[in-house]
Amino acid sequence: MTTSAQDLLLAKTLLQENKLVAIPTETVYGLAANALAPQAVAKIFQAKKRPTFDPLIVHVPDIEALEQYIGYFPEMAQKLAQAFWPGPLTLILPKKKMIPDLVTSGLDTVAVRIPKHPLTLALLRSLDFPLAAPSANPFGYVSPTTAAHVKNQLGSKIDYILDGGPCEVGIESTIVGFPQGQACVYRLGGISLEAIEQCIGKVSLQAHSSSNPTAPGMLSSHYAPAKPLHLIQNAHEADKWLKRFSQKSVGSIVFKKPFKNILPENQVILSKTGNFQEAAQNIFAGLRSLDKPEIQIIIAELLPEKDLGRAINDRLRRAATMHQSFD
Ligand code: TXA
Ligand code: MG
Repeated sequence: MTTSAQDLLLAKTLLQENKLVAIPTETVYGLAANALAPQAVAKIFQAKKRPTFDPLIVHVPDIEALEQYIGYFPEMAQKLAQAFWPGPLTLILPKKKMIPDLVTSGLDTVAVRIPKHPLTLALLRSLDFPLAAPSANPFGYVSPTTAAHVKNQLGSKIDYILDGGPCEVGIESTIVGFPQGQACVYRLGGISLEAIEQCIGKVSLQAHSSSNPTAPGMLSSHYAPAKPLHLIQNAHEADKWLKRFSQKSVGSIVFKKPFKNILPENQVILSKTGNFQEAAQNIFAGLRSLDKPEIQIIIAELLPEKDLGRAINDRLRRAATMHQSFD
């Protein structure tokens, strides 16, 4: 990574011209455009092939900038902002009119976040508008955690990629909204549920479901790799799949310990020491690495249902629901 002041200036200039720039964040790479310019925002939806009923996150450099765009900042939201920004948290807040309807899919709320990446923070500070940025992947595919991931999938459709190195957190931000004044987690992500509850007390969790696409960001297939993925409970089940397929065509994703009988090059170990942060850093790159011609099937084990394990399991479950018909 050799990003210079010149690269930042180029990114800034292109964004001012309503062009698309991929930006690094601590969670995943984003596909950014001027959030106040509908013609620029429209290009994001086109490049990703994303349906316009799926609203975008608006990125700002600080709370002062944020206050220009939101109508009201509930106390609980302020507490969370203070505890976790800059960082992997997105808040759903009432929006002001200047945020275009295209950004929010016509909702009267806007998703906002202050990301924690020095390059993107510097870029945001240099601009006099906020950046709308979904994850920089084609709609329905896993999110990118390196500049190369972005280039491979969207390179021809975007004007520039600001390379900020591999993403530190590796999974998307945790999304918290406040319907009827009560905090509700809409998406599990880089800040654990435990950490959120330690800050503001008990919160509700709105589980995702493909039968309820009105729940924001909750399309079940959202993290699907191109290969069928099956969740398994134990090594015995792994053997069952190995009997059905040839050894070289089975890939696996495990938390700490490798499965026997799977080729080492087809095996993704998320964290040998059982560290949740490390596992989160590796999950999307791991799924991508198994997206190779010889693999026909991926088997994956769930992590303990706590800390970032919950968010990682959420991604694995979504990847699995895409291919249920294989069972
Ligand atoms: O970590 C992240 O959040 C990354 C980086 C780039 O910031 N961004 C990201 O964006 O994951 P995206 O578009 O892939 O996911 C944003 C989710 C969507 O699922 C969308 O439905 C939800 O946020 N969302 C956006 N605006 C909303 C709103 N007003 N109410 C409820 N959900 C909203
Ligand atoms: Mg996304």
